[in-house]
Amino acid sequence: MVDSHGRTIRDLRISITDRCNFRCVYCMEPDVRFASQEALLTVDEIIRVATVAESLGVRKVRLTGGEPTLHPHLTALIAGLSSASGVEIAMITNASLLKRDALREWKAAGLKRMTVSIDSLRPDRFARLTRSSASPHQVLKGVELSLIEGLTPVKLNAVLIRGFNDDEAVELAALSRTFGVEMRFIEYMPLDSGHAWDSSKWVSASETRTTIERTFPLIPCDDDDPSSTARTFRFADLRADSPARIGFIAPVSTPFCGACSRLRLTADGQVRPCLFSTTEWDIRSPLRNGATDEELADFLIDATWTKQPGHGISSLGFRQPERPMSAIGG
Ligand code: 5AD
Ligand code: SF4
Repeated sequence: MVDSHGRTIRDLRISITDRCNFRCVYCMEPDVRFASQEALLTVDEIIRVATVAESLGVRKVRLTGGEPTLHPHLTALIAGLSSASGVEIAMITNASLLKRDALREWKAAGLKRMTVSIDSLRPDRFARLTRSSASPHQVLKGVELSLIEGLTPVKLNAVLIRGFNDDEAVELAALSRTFGVEMRFIEYMPLDSGHAWDSSKWVSASETRTTIERTFPLIPCDDDDPSSTARTFRFADLRADSPARIGFIAPVSTPFCGACSRLRLTADGQVRPCLFSTTEWDIRSPLRNGATDEELADFLIDATWTKQPGHGISSLGFRQPERPMSAIGG
């Protein structure tokens, strides 16, 4: 699948539920309205879209949310995706609910990798940020279990917000060394449902890097995949083959739209060519109205063709999408 700007689509991000046990300040309003059960795609519908996408060249599927581990039939979904479509399956989770048995089941069903969000290591702040009763300790336990169960490489994500958690950059970076994983810092994007984003709360990747380097000097890695969203660095004081790495995802200061290989499917069956799309393509209707695989393939090809060249966050006419990350799927 190629878009009108010559980009090839290889990754499909599927929000499998818009529900979440957190209400992160940069993502969900506390009183967010969830889609009705009938509006959400079923396991079979998700598998069908992924299988058609695979026939069009998609090689990776990332399950997101909301919180994907809240999906009631997650094992069946993973098993179905891996047997029907053969794509590589990864998941992004807040890790607060991970249990060893479930991880084992998902792995056996075909899940390969985990990415875990962790924005603060201080219990009081973590609670305020996620507006939940979960603790950072629970999340770190989830990281440990994911490593033990071989859902590797495990990656960690943090969003720094000025005046809120930006003073934790070094402590978060140190997690990379503790666990031997890549810790990634994502620039705060205007995607929050409260539309509270403003540039004064935003911390650039280069500022974060400078802060981290005061404690841990970094060396750029030269093996980044060009379509990868992260620029990765290793620690100057660790061996070059150490799995501890720092990644910076800088969609605001250094847009990577030109190399984007992603397409998104929302929990309620809307195809979004871009995180920042203001137009969605309703694939749920054809799915429920007896469309053939060829018709669904044409639908995906057409939606992909409209993928916008970039998000234009810094342009004057920028309009924030109506729906927050929890509905769109990170
Ligand atoms: N800006 C940047 N990242 C965000 N995420 C959620 N909302 C935002 C935002 N407004 C991140 C989460 C998670 C991933 C799915 O998306 O931290 O790691
Ligand atoms: Fe839930 Fe993730 Fe949104 Fe936080 S960022 S509220 S964990 S969906």
